[in-house]
Amino acid sequence: MEVIVNETYEEMGKTAARVVAKTLNAKPNAVLGLATGSTPLSLYQELVRMHKDEGLDFSQVTTFNLDEYVGLKIDHPQSYHYFMNENLFQHINVPAANIHIPSGTTDNYEAFCNWYERRIVECGGIDLQVLGIGSDGHIAFNEPSSSLGSRTRIKTLAKPTIEDNARFFDSAEEVPIYAITMGVGTILEARKILLLANKESKAPAITAAIEGPVTSLCTASALQLHPDTMFILDRAAASGLSMLDYYEWIQSKMPDAP
Ligand code: GLP
Repeated sequence: MEVIVNETYEEMGKTAARVVAKTLNAKPNAVLGLATGSTPLSLYQELVRMHKDEGLDFSQVTTFNLDEYVGLKIDHPQSYHYFMNENLFQHINVPAANIHIPSGTTDNYEAFCNWYERRIVECGGIDLQVLGIGSDGHIAFNEPSSSLGSRTRIKTLAKPTIEDNARFFDSAEEVPIYAITMGVGTILEARKILLLANKESKAPAITAAIEGPVTSLCTASALQLHPDTMFILDRAAASGLSMLDYYEWIQSKMPDAP
């Protein structure tokens, strides 16, 4: 695991965007796993800027989003389809046919989930997966107690997640109760993982994910088992880490490492 601490939210986005750009430079037809939420917005803003100013090319890229609310149509302003289009896809040149987002309106969820898993494999697997983290330590919508081997499926959202996400809706009653989400097992198969987190409210979840035991009660802790995960944090989200000095020491010594 690598832990990179940035001073600001904007800097966090730029650090993550450099990793995405490096991946695309090495493999122009890379498969990207993408996340929603407020956290990755500074990353998406920087990717859009790099596309416009520096010609960062997405023409051969394939994308898979982590999750979607069940019951929200793709044009619902709080759907993850809408979010991705607004904040990223309409501003870059990824072909529409290469974009995959779980369906929140299919009439056969089981078949859709199985297809989604197969489609990831058909496309060669995810090269780089971007993640945020919920305040209860969830990744995608893998709420506490999700199997660490879980695959794409329907999840019932936990009450704290419904409360956290109520800020985007008119009231908590309007937040969907179910979501379709990649599983922890699906996520762990990505070749490289970037987990982004900012704000002090994420500090306990980040500390549990990086320094706590591997447990389904904090599904982000499963990333400790992944061979190539980078946590890109702001200082507030990193504030509870007991080994912070060491992580920063590692980063400062990285350029001279043999
Ligand atoms: C939702 C999403 C997660 C996201 C989390 C945190 O639960 N399913 O993928 O990481 O929210 O959201 P935010 O970045 O807005 O704090």
